[in-house]
Amino acid sequence: MKKVLEVKDLHISFHTFAGEVQAIRGVNFDLHKGETLAIVGESGSGKSVTTKAIMRLLPESNSKIKEGEILFEGKDLTKLSDKSMQKVRGKDISMIFQDPMTSLNPTMKIGKQIIEPIVKHQKLSKAAAKKRAIEILDLVGIPNPEERFEQYPHQFSGGMRQRVVIAIALACNPKVLIADEPTTALDVTIQAQILELMKELQKKIDTSIIFITHDLGVVANVADRVAVMYGGKIVEIGTVDEVFYNPQHPYTWGLISSMPTLDTEEEELYAIPGTPPDLLHPPKGDAFAPRNAYAMKIDLEEQPPMFKVSDTHYAATWLLHPDAPKFEPPAAVQRRQREFLEMKEGN
Ligand SMILES: Nc1ncnc2c1ncn2[C@@H]1O[C@H](COP(=O)(O)OP(=O)(O)OP(=O)(O)O)[C@@H](O)[C@H]1O
Ligand SMILES: [Mg+2]
Repeated sequence: MKKVLEVKDLHISFHTFAGEVQAIRGVNFDLHKGETLAIVGESGSGKSVTTKAIMRLLPESNSKIKEGEILFEGKDLTKLSDKSMQKVRGKDISMIFQDPMTSLNPTMKIGKQIIEPIVKHQKLSKAAAKKRAIEILDLVGIPNPEERFEQYPHQFSGGMRQRVVIAIALACNPKVLIADEPTTALDVTIQAQILELMKELQKKIDTSIIFITHDLGVVANVADRVAVMYGGKIVEIGTVDEVFYNPQHPYTWGLISSMPTLDTEEEELYAIPGTPPDLLHPPKGDAFAPRNAYAMKIDLEEQPPMFKVSDTHYAATWLLHPDAPKFEPPAAVQRRQREFLEMKEGN
């Protein structure tokens, strides 16, 4: 499959009063044409920093890409001039954030806000840009787009505003769309609608999508592949089926065990014990080791490499070493595996 984006051995640090925060510690992944890749992981695992680096939106004052490349159509974005990067941003790669209100200008009509990037990047006439803006409002499910075009953000509900933000991001047919927790600030029903929209868009347009979320539950619905981040690294990556139904990393086991399901509502929801690593002083071994019930001596001493599970599935845990003892995953994970097998056999 054609690669649109290749992130290679990315290391990013922040300089703070307390010292150097090693936020991203060797991240590698590819994004294929037309696919949706979900990035999941706890707060602070590095999801936003990784994608802000792609957009070159990290604060210049205290952040530094220490190592690595971000290749977009063969160009290393980390080395592009600010001027060239401005052309990439919004046109080739665009990003939507959690809170639609901060992304919109409250004093400017919606239509104008959609037209701006189109006129800037695509050099269309005003009339052609307006036509495109109305098309795209329609595409993201805004009723009466001609009328809505003339309105201001405060005349839209939260969910409708997020649709407008998505419209602006899609206005120039970007090759990559990064959605950083696009539904977290919205209420549950609206969340579901926006996720449904993302799913529909994925079918209608051939933009590749990076979808960041805390919520493993939404991943199965929207993504083709999943990358699980922990402590500034990707610890497991694979297709949705592989990561959900054949997870290998104990951290992924923990995430899956902490997902609510219909028949576990009576029980108390599982939470992974312990706290994330201190990235001012990253641990020598596997960053998850102190929270890992399956940790071995080597987990505390050496960082595991990415072991291959299949051509599309990799995980960084010493449990995959040929000499490691074999553990059964926790009951909640096994239950999902069984459900999956039953579903497959049923088909
Ligand atoms: N401007 C900054 N200065 C110092 N440290 C930062 C800065 N931005 C991010 N970090 C650190 O980088 C690490 C990764 O942060 P990031 O925002 O990528 O997490 P995240 O996975 O997106 O979390 P969340 O789910 O809460 O959004 C964290 O340890 C965070 O404290
Ligand atoms: Mg974030």
